[in-house]
Amino acid sequence: MKTVLLQADNAVDLAMCGDWLKQGKLVAVPTETVYGLAADATNLDAVRAIFTAKGRPENHPLIVHVHDKKAINDWACKVSTAAYALAEAFWPGPLTLLLHKAPHVSPVVTGRLNTVGLRMPSHPVLLAVLQQQQLAVAAPSANLFKKLSPTSAEHVMAGMQGKISAVLDGGECQFGVESTIIDLTQIIPTIVRAGPISAAQIEAVLGRPVAQPRQHNVAVPGNVSAHYQPDKPLLCFSRAELLLHLPQQQQPIALLHYSETVGSAVVTKLKMPSLATAFARSLYQTLFAADKLPVTAIWCELPPDTDEWRAVNDRLSRASCNRS
Ligand code: TXA
Ligand code: MG
Repeated sequence: MKTVLLQADNAVDLAMCGDWLKQGKLVAVPTETVYGLAADATNLDAVRAIFTAKGRPENHPLIVHVHDKKAINDWACKVSTAAYALAEAFWPGPLTLLLHKAPHVSPVVTGRLNTVGLRMPSHPVLLAVLQQQQLAVAAPSANLFKKLSPTSAEHVMAGMQGKISAVLDGGECQFGVESTIIDLTQIIPTIVRAGPISAAQIEAVLGRPVAQPRQHNVAVPGNVSAHYQPDKPLLCFSRAELLLHLPQQQQPIALLHYSETVGSAVVTKLKMPSLATAFARSLYQTLFAADKLPVTAIWCELPPDTDEWRAVNDRLSRASCNRS
């Protein structure tokens, strides 16, 4: 299959993107977090094709992306007031709500769970396509299973070329890490994936504490600890460890760092922003770039272990899992 590159600022291309989704084709689309691999969420053949294209196990549930807050009631039932309040506060935007699925929602979409993940993305191009076609799309990140999530059309092409109908190029993603996911089917709302919306922001809206387990919830298929991985091994070190190990390093490595650090002939230094949001925005693209360098490994200076760095630290720990 030839994968066509469509341009978001071209009206003909945009219309084609909508038509193809409506026809059941797979199109990678920009969102404000990362690129998603979209299919009409009501077309089960199209949804099944997502799993094939990504090489993703079928019991890993997909997020349904809607273009209207009211669509919560089309996809979920027994919706709590907390869920409506969060949608009101953060939609459109990078927050996914886990809710009890409405009876008609297919287990193909939800990985056979009784819950459904819903979010209304804020990317204007994607919203326009969904509104125009009156569509909801199931969309995981547009990467091969376990690989780095794409934050540009070029990244999507690198993994998905030949496997999907098209990629809609809408430029680089604003946040660069996947949405925050909060499970609202439990008595205590629980963040199951850290992301751009923090626990504190959610607590401010709900007026009560939310749980945020440090450990990944292994009971949720898809929330696996080894994930988001570059091809080269990624090793994370504190600044003190870096200063100790770097001078002894003999193999060529790439180093993602945000504070000043020592250099050496074998180290290609890739400076990262010292602000958590900016670091998150360039994390995947820098890992993609590091992967292409003639190096044997990628090292990263560990950010502080604080709330504002939670999403970044979560992705780094999964990207480096089983590698040290
Ligand atoms: O920002 C994002 O959320 C991006 C963009 C494309 O929207 N999407 C994304 O989807 O990251 P994906 O499939 O790569 O990650 C979604 C995660 C998976 O770990 C999946 O297991 C979990 O959400 N998930 C989805 N529906 C769920 C459900 N009903 N119950 C538990 N976990 C669910
Ligand atoms: Mg993903």
